Formats: sequence, C-alpha cells, structure tokens
Amino acid sequence: MALKFGVLAAAAVAFGGALAGVVAPASAFDPAAGDPTAGEKVFRKCQSCHAIGPEAKSKTGPALTGVVGRPAGKFEGYAYSPAMTKEAEAGLVWTPEKIDAFLANPKKFLPGTKMTFAGLRKDQERADLIAYLAKFP
Ligand code: HEC
Repeated sequence: MALKFGVLAAAAVAFGGALAGVVAPASAFDPAAGDPTAGEKVFRKCQSCHAIGPEAKSKTGPALTGVVGRPAGKFEGYAYSPAMTKEAEAGLVWTPEKIDAFLANPKKFLPGTKMTFAGLRKDQERADLIAYLAKFP
C-alpha cells in the first residue's frame, strides 16, 4: 500500500506541471493510473524511431525529452510533417490526454502524420508509457 501510494504521488508530481492548465475533468484519462516502470518496457516499441533523456537526439522521429506538456511540433531542428506543423500552429499541446489519443491511433488523431506507427490499443499500456515519458522533463 505504501509503495502504491508512492508511485501515485510520484506520478501526480510528474504530471502536475502538465495538468496545471487543463480544465477538463470530463476526460476519462487518469494519468495517475500509469506505472513508469511498465512504461519503460512499452517504450521499446518507440525506440526504433524515438530517443528520450537529457542527451537525446532526433532519429526518424523527434526526441521525446520533455514532450509531456510541450507544444506539438517544437523539438528544435526536427522536420515535422505539414500535418503536424499545421496542428502545432493551431495550438496543439501534448497534454497527457492528447498524447493518449495520438498513441491510440496516430493516423486517426492526425491524418497525414509521418509517424508510421499502428497505435497502442491497450489503455493501460498508454497510461504506463505516458507516466514513463513524464519522467524526462
Ligand atoms: C516508425 C517510427 C516511429 C515509431 C515506431 C513511433 N514514432 Fe512517434 N513519431 C515518429 C515521427 C516520424 C514523428 C513526427 C510526426 C510528424 O511530423 O507528423 C513522431 C512524432 C511523435 C510525437 C510528437 C512529438 C512532437 O514533438 O510533437 C510523439 C509524442 C510521439 N511520436 C510519440 C511516440 C511514442 C510514445 C511511440 C511509441 C509508442 C512512437 N511515437 C512510435 C515516428 C515514430
């Protein structure tokens, strides 16, 4: 129980910044439900294209360091698709909810994206993964 509380508290802290500007309690997404340790394993599916961490550089996809809460399409030096650039200009910000929706079905969330990834169907996998991403501000 103590351990579980610790994990939840850590997730709450990690997401606090990202959620500060979000006023949408209607969302079913519960960021505290994610387990970053499990998320690290899920991230293996992303590693062929994405790096994360203080020294991370872009590969096929942009580096994901600090992506939780960051405006979309803003990793310096990365050439995003016109579709992503358009959404970025329209003000898309990668809140946990938006990342969740994008990862569930990238092509549906963002038609024209050059992220050729089928998507993560399991809610828990996405929650775990987002908890892992949030460990790299
Ligand atoms: C086959 C390569 C590939 C895989 C696998 C992949 N991505 Fe991507 N990802 C990309 C590309 C390319 C883009 C840029 C998309 C664009 O510009 O339309 C991107 C963009 C993103 C963005 C937006 C970043 C920004 O700066 O706006 C996020 C978030 C993201 N990916 C997360 C993930 C996660 C998490 C996974 C693993 C579940 C994953 N991706 C798997 C290639 C990939």
